[in-house]
Amino acid sequence: MRVFVTGASGWIGSAVVPELTGAGHQVTGLARSDASAAALTAAGAQVHRGTLDDPGSLRSAAAAADGVIHLAFKHDIAFSGDFQGAADADRRAVETFGEALAGSGRPFVIASGTLGLAPGRVATERDGRDPGSAAHLSGGPQTRMATARMTLSLASRGVRSSVVRLPPTVHGEGDHGFMAALAGIARDKGVSGYIGDGSNRWPAVHRFDAAHLFRLALDNAPAGSVLHAVADQGVPIRAIAEVIGRHLGLPVAAISAQDAGEHFGWLGGYLAADSPASSTLTRELLGWRPAHPGLIDDLDKGHYFHNQST
Ligand SMILES: NC(=O)c1ccc[n+]([C@@H]2O[C@H](COP(=O)([O-])OP(=O)(O)OC[C@H]3O[C@@H](n4cnc5c(N)ncnc54)[C@H](OP(=O)(O)O)[C@@H]3O)[C@@H](O)[C@H]2O)c1
Repeated sequence: MRVFVTGASGWIGSAVVPELTGAGHQVTGLARSDASAAALTAAGAQVHRGTLDDPGSLRSAAAAADGVIHLAFKHDIAFSGDFQGAADADRRAVETFGEALAGSGRPFVIASGTLGLAPGRVATERDGRDPGSAAHLSGGPQTRMATARMTLSLASRGVRSSVVRLPPTVHGEGDHGFMAALAGIARDKGVSGYIGDGSNRWPAVHRFDAAHLFRLALDNAPAGSVLHAVADQGVPIRAIAEVIGRHLGLPVAAISAQDAGEHFGWLGGYLAADSPASSTLTRELLGWRPAHPGLIDDLDKGHYFHNQST
């Protein structure tokens, strides 16, 4: 297949590209800068210059492809206070792809998240499919869930659409996401912290296992599928803090909910979530089997702690 991939230069995209080319697909990646274009060329992909804000460019790239994987997200503005703006741009891009692919029967796979789907219990692929299920969310996170539902509804318009929900940590060597931020905060504060008793859980997946699931979704997911790229169903935050503390030689300590904002900054709200998720239905549907290290084993390999800038 000729596959158009947005976000192909990103953390997950740069693992998805070799996964696709290794399976014989031809990849064209969206690049908004010379640096991203060079990275895509080096990875063996074709380059389509453009941005998420250029619907004409997205439409023409999708029309020329046999399938689309949409991974780009404006994390730069999302994590500096404008998550709503990032979610709105994402929704417009998905609308554009939906129009371009309607009636074609082609695959369209987007990234979404598991965090906050079903607080306090194990979320499954069946959660979050009806509009009422996002009632506890607001703003950008609610918009993102609505965009995922819109993607699934494209199944009734002749698009083989699917949504891959990612856990909050997609970990691996070179990760600059939540785990790297948590290690950085521990280093800055001189203590590896967790909130409350730290029994709240996060699911997790290794980047290469997530990339493999995107390829399986592109190749085989039935129209309207929700897939969970979840390898670890729920890792207690305290267990994560303990590994970080051990590797950095720092004490491990509880931070009260009142002090979490000051201690963890923007990460505090995410870190307090108890949001485990399962992938039983995904494994049954597509035969996906995570093969790379789980979160604790990956942290224990030490690569998160070698770089003093993280
Ligand atoms: N990583 C995780 O732990 C995680 C967890 C849950 C969900 N997700 C979701 O998974 C998807 C991929 O995440 P990621 O971690 O790979 O993100 P990432 O490393 O931040 O990469 C984002 C990608 O989007 C591109 N992009 C950003 N703004 C753009 C714009 N205005 N126009 C065109 N391209 C733009 C970036 O291009 P440049 O290379 O030019 O910057 C980059 O390729 C996202 O939807 C994300 O929210 C990720």
